[in-house]
This record gives sequence, structure tokens and C-alpha cells, in this order.
Amino acid sequence: MVKILICDPVEVEKLALGPSMAVDYRPAITREELLDVVGGYEALIVRSRTKVDKAVLEKGGRLKLVARAGTGLDNVDVEYAKSRGVTVVNSPESLVEAVVEQVFLMMLGVSRKVVRADVGTKAGKWEKNALVGRELRGKVLGVVGFGRIGRRIGEVAKVLGMSLLVYDVIPIPQAVLDQVGAKVVGLDELFSSSDYITLHVPMTPETARLVGTEKISRMKKNAVLVNTSRGGVVDEDALAVALNEGRIGGAALDVFEKEPPTGAILEAPNTILTPHIGGQTEEAQLSAVTVIGEKVRAFFASS
Ligand code: MLT
Repeated sequence: MVKILICDPVEVEKLALGPSMAVDYRPAITREELLDVVGGYEALIVRSRTKVDKAVLEKGGRLKLVARAGTGLDNVDVEYAKSRGVTVVNSPESLVEAVVEQVFLMMLGVSRKVVRADVGTKAGKWEKNALVGRELRGKVLGVVGFGRIGRRIGEVAKVLGMSLLVYDVIPIPQAVLDQVGAKVVGLDELFSSSDYITLHVPMTPETARLVGTEKISRMKKNAVLVNTSRGGVVDEDALAVALNEGRIGGAALDVFEKEPPTGAILEAPNTILTPHIGGQTEEAQLSAVTVIGEKVRAFFASS
């Protein structure tokens, strides 16, 4: 019997792991408890809350598989897992539509000042004349990271009449660029030429604080920055300074260096801040669990 520990909230029955697997569901397990019990399991299933770092992997002497329901693997020490012969799987395919919709929601929300409109109207104000927004059509969208999510954003942006500048460290096939009419540029050009900038990079030493004072200083006065990737990619204090000084048009952040966030960004104007809900749709969550269930079953069926 394969012993599996689920460490974060998931719909266990949707994993459909079957009778050959003994599953312990402990969605609120503490780190100390995890370190205590991990040695008894062949697989861990996690979302983003549980950190599967060196200490956990070392204590998990029987571990063969770490399965992350979702995209980001920054909570798993993938290299160390590999070095110990532990396979790591995730389900990046599940969250694409949810994140893409969140990105457009945020771009539109900032541009049409929708939060202020809502709060004001409910408070009895009628700020119609003050709430003149901007349309996405005809604007330049800069996409940093042109993987699954970035490419889908490109498709939607094309339909909306936006033009696309893209940047990625991995070469992008010309056919993919042609499909959405995207042009590859360097990061500096992307920051200085875009009306909207959306980030879709993983959290790595190379991307930490990628968007700081220098990149922000290149942005157009009306430009809007959207981050649904990982909080540490943006220097939130530098962003707050630029917003407070009116040097950029606005920002929408779904992810933060520390979650929940603290500091100046909470008070900065022209922002929409959300609690890491990019992947929080019924469809994405169902898909993440179903896909991870399939990957766990396939792994143990073939091992
Ligand atoms: C992910 O990486 O899967 C998303 O950011 C969603 C999450 O971690 O909750």
C-alpha cells in the first residue's frame, strides 16, 4: 500500500487515488508535525502553503514523489529532491485560464477605476465625471515570460486590439509570435514602450526583485503593472514610491513578497490588491486536483 500525505487543502475525493493508496489528509499540518511524520510516506501532495525544503526531504527517507497541485514550485526544493531521487510533479496546465482572466480583470479594473467606482457609489457618491478611464484597444501590452499563460494572454490581447511586446529568457518560436502578432524585445524596451506590463515568470534568484526602481523608472507615466506571478519578482516599496509620486499610472498585484502583505504598498494610490486568487476558480482548482491525481496514479503505476 502506497502511503500518501496530503498537507494542504484539496478536494481529496477528486484526486481519485484508488484503493491501493492509503491517504492521510492533514490540510493544516504544521511544519513541526510534518517533520515528525514525513518519514512514513512515499508521496506528499501539497499546494503552496507547505514548504518541501531540504529538512523535509531529508526526514522523508521513503519519499518517491512530491506532487504540487498548481503551478509554482518555489515552495519545493526541486533540485535537492532530484538529487535524492524524488520526482516532483505539478499541474501548470490547470491554472492558465483562471490566471489569464485575472490579468485582464486587473488591467481593466485599474484602467476603469472600478474599485473607487464601487466604493464611492455604495457610499452615496456619484463620481461619474471623475471616473474617466482608458480602453485596452490600441495599447501596447508587454508580457514578461511567454510560456503557457503569457501565450494565452497574447491571444486574448490580440482579440482586444492590443499590440504585444514579449520578453523571455527562452527563445520563442517565430510561429508562436506570428500567431498573436508579438514582437520580442529586451526587458528595458518592454518597460519603456508598454502601456500595460504583465509578469509571468517563476520565482528564482534571477527573477527576484526583477522589477525594482530601475525598471519602474523606465515605465510610461500612464503605464500599469500587473503581477500575478510571484510577489518577490516586484520590489513593492519601489513600486509604492512610484505610485505615490504619480510616476506610473497604476498597479495590480495578486501576489506579494510576504503574504498577507504589509508596508507602503497597502496605502499606495491607483492599485488593486488581491489575496493570491489568480488560480482560485472552481474550474482551475478542480482541474489542478484531477490532473495531480492522474499524475500520482501514473507515477505509482509505473514505478
Ligand atoms: C500556483 O502557482 O499554483 C498559483 O500561484 C496558485 C497558488 O499557488 O495558490
